Amino acid sequence: MEIVQYPHPALRWKSSDVTRIDASLRETVEQMFELMYEAKGIGLAANQVALPLRLFIINPTGEEQDKESELVFINPEITSRKGSVLGEEGCLSLPELYAEVRRADEITVEAYDLDGQGFEITLDDLPSRVIQHESDHLDGVLFIDRISESAERELAPKLADFETLFRRQQSSGDLPADEDIRGELEAQATSLTQG
Ligand code: CO
Repeated sequence: MEIVQYPHPALRWKSSDVTRIDASLRETVEQMFELMYEAKGIGLAANQVALPLRLFIINPTGEEQDKESELVFINPEITSRKGSVLGEEGCLSLPELYAEVRRADEITVEAYDLDGQGFEITLDDLPSRVIQHESDHLDGVLFIDRISESAERELAPKLADFETLFRRQQSSGDLPADEDIRGELEAQATSLTQG
């Protein structure tokens, strides 16, 4: 498992609900936490490790030792959004790229945890922003889709660099073609929904 980078097709995939919470899913989540800490992130969505699952993890402290701040959201739904606030965001799939994004200030989320227990949580500040960012990933939406036109113009050359690098890796055979990646995501999503 590895974190994929823009413009990997998994980042534009609308993921499917998790239908079974089992040992294999718990193992997946464990690996995702490891990758997130290695990359010094505070959130990671399944799409970012090329899994078409509605699942993300967060730890707003970014501290691997701080297990109490770890949260796993399975099949999350943001059920309420209040207020609006601008803040800087980055993404492990777009390293070293940052921009201001407007998000709801306070949100309520419903989700399942790794024990299959439903929970509801209301959060503001950084955790609220991280959850909105990660929820977007599950729908194939990136923070660069939500930035101002001027920020978009500013970031365009860096995005082009990501694109060039990705296409070069495909040409050299280090990465599969978009079509093949999408085929793989489709096959995974199908096997998931068939249980
Ligand atoms: Co991200």
